[in-house]
Amino acid sequence: DIDRKITELLSKMTLEEKVGQMNQYTGFYDLTGPAPSEGNAKNKYEHIKQGLVGSMLNVRGVENVRKMQQLAVDSSRLGIPMIFGFDVIHGHKTLSPIPLAESASWDLQAIEKSARVAAIEASAEGLNWTFAPMVDVSHDPRWGRVMEGAGEDPFLGSKIAIARVKGFQGDDLSADNTIAACAKHWAGYGFVEGGRDYNTVDVSSTTLYNVIFPPFKAAVEEANVRTFMNAFNIINGVPSTGNSFLLRDVLKGDWDFTGFVVSDWSSGAEMINHGYARDLEQVAELAANAGSDMDMESYAYVLHLVDVVKAGKVKESVVDDAVRRILRVKYELGLFDDPYRYCSEEREKKEIYSPDHLAAALDMAKKSIVLLKNENGLLPLSKTQKKLAIIGTLANDKNSPLGNWRMAGDENTAVSVLEGLEKYNADLKYAEGVKLVTGPEAFATELEINTTDRSKFAEAINLAKQSEVVVMVLGENGLQTGEARSRADLGLPGLQEELLEAVYKVNPNIVLVLMNGRPLTIEWAHNHIPAIVEAWQLGTETGNALAQVLFGDYNPSGKLPMTFPRSSAHIPVYYNHFNTGRPGPKTEVFWPHYMDESYIPLYPFGFGLSYSTFEYSGLEVHEVEPGKFEVTVQVSNVSAVDGEEVVQLYIRDRVASIVRPVKELKGFEKRMIKAGETIAVSFVLTQKELGFYNGEGKFLAEPGDFDLWVGPSSAEGLHTSFELK
Ligand code: IFM
Repeated sequence: DIDRKITELLSKMTLEEKVGQMNQYTGFYDLTGPAPSEGNAKNKYEHIKQGLVGSMLNVRGVENVRKMQQLAVDSSRLGIPMIFGFDVIHGHKTLSPIPLAESASWDLQAIEKSARVAAIEASAEGLNWTFAPMVDVSHDPRWGRVMEGAGEDPFLGSKIAIARVKGFQGDDLSADNTIAACAKHWAGYGFVEGGRDYNTVDVSSTTLYNVIFPPFKAAVEEANVRTFMNAFNIINGVPSTGNSFLLRDVLKGDWDFTGFVVSDWSSGAEMINHGYARDLEQVAELAANAGSDMDMESYAYVLHLVDVVKAGKVKESVVDDAVRRILRVKYELGLFDDPYRYCSEEREKKEIYSPDHLAAALDMAKKSIVLLKNENGLLPLSKTQKKLAIIGTLANDKNSPLGNWRMAGDENTAVSVLEGLEKYNADLKYAEGVKLVTGPEAFATELEINTTDRSKFAEAINLAKQSEVVVMVLGENGLQTGEARSRADLGLPGLQEELLEAVYKVNPNIVLVLMNGRPLTIEWAHNHIPAIVEAWQLGTETGNALAQVLFGDYNPSGKLPMTFPRSSAHIPVYYNHFNTGRPGPKTEVFWPHYMDESYIPLYPFGFGLSYSTFEYSGLEVHEVEPGKFEVTVQVSNVSAVDGEEVVQLYIRDRVASIVRPVKELKGFEKRMIKAGETIAVSFVLTQKELGFYNGEGKFLAEPGDFDLWVGPSSAEGLHTSFELK
């Protein structure tokens, strides 16, 4: 039925109007890319009225969206409604933890719920399309955008991609509280050289197929994601926006994707800088022919595509296909039935910051916390703990915990760590310790935490001297990760490490709470500080969630979705690497190691402690039918505290026609295990988990021997082996 309607509408459209559907403009505030030139910005209203704009981004709020939509519906010849896109990345008004933190929960239901809540709030503000989830796998924490993703693993990343897309899109895309999702950035953006944003990407086709593509494929095939966004980078020397291998061969060909593809902000025009297009006219030709359906803020299609089609360089059928895809999503969203479906003032008032949403944000925040170290059971703290010191400017910060990409978020709305802890414990004192430059100022100037001013040190040191336990909250300010926030040194920014060492000298009884958007290099802290809690940037409910963990009302259950390197020089470091021809460790010199430090990561992928102690036993694997294996294991909670464990299954294909990683995650289960209880956990492995893609993109499940581990992280676990015949 939708196809018939599209065909009918298409037959009425002029070429100009078709091209108009392929054009997306930013609104007049909330820029998420370089500002458009004045000349381009001023024609926008006129263009909408002329039917030359198919979509707007960065317009939100029922009143604003309604006004803008009215221009398209009432003034343009065919009245085709626009689709309104926005970066709804981790919550909308109620903010949940940054996506990397959420991924540390390994809790797919909670992650889906978090995206659901974000969709409900965003749609209540007039939006019907989010530029999320970012499903870029990355091995490089220097890249600031790791905060937006699910970390380093394609299997975990795929499961999380599915959960997020389902959360945004729900069961019925036409409902007024579901929005279209967007798998981004297609493809390979997580592999920018040196972790420097927008940089060159140069990866092998086996890495593309086995590491980079899987979460995108899962989003298409298992969650029916309705849109894709191109990456800024090149793949095989061709910018993604003009890359017909990515767009036509793989996405729209092999995977049969029926939604549409939007460019990233000016990624079309940037093909000129890449040296792939001579001018904006050629950009229009190359991007359209490659299969990039909508142009975000490049002005290539709106200014040139009509002429390029008339000159015969792009067939009108190519334009028709792009327009069909865009119209299809608009039909699916119900915009043709009611262009104002997402514009209800009543919903806008009711949904934003609703108690249910705050409860979901708190639940997600607790589950995202990872306990990295807990010597002598320093944690949990007693609720009646006397003389508790809280040190660190981030503890008293209501903005940084919201993280970057908090687009619609209201400034200073997080429950700070201090506020959260104060609710539990009255005998608590705070000292700033070191100044942090936060907020819009840091956004504009990229200033970091103060590197020279030690004037607040003495106060903090004195407080530590008089205290029994010190909680130090250190890390990155909320805008130190995210787009264009690459860092070369991943240590605690500014004077924080120096402060930590100074406080340690007078009182080593320290709980270090890390607030950050990426893995940090904290080897000194690991070697000295008895308790370390990875608290990321946990969103609106930060302080409440952290207080529950520190005082033992919630038993931490998170596991790292990304390896923590010892030093920045370790990078890239990731668990699922290849063995090389000279694997270590060896006593002599000729093997891949560093002469000046250990090559073993500080904390491995999948690692995270609990207040409970778990033991694994009885690992067995049985071939239940040819090529299908059932794996079972017992997990016991041998402590006196109930706790959740993420039981992880890894394999290694020992010999294959393409070398396979030393370990690959192929299953996980997050389970509550009561104190003293033993549970059985089982997994099924089929060719889907045991196979891989060769360099031509052919899927192969080759017979031979496999290693199998089940355990609490990528570095531990019971081992067995089996044979695929
Ligand atoms: O969605 C983003 C993208 O991830 C980076 N450039 C701008 C887009 C729209 O805001």
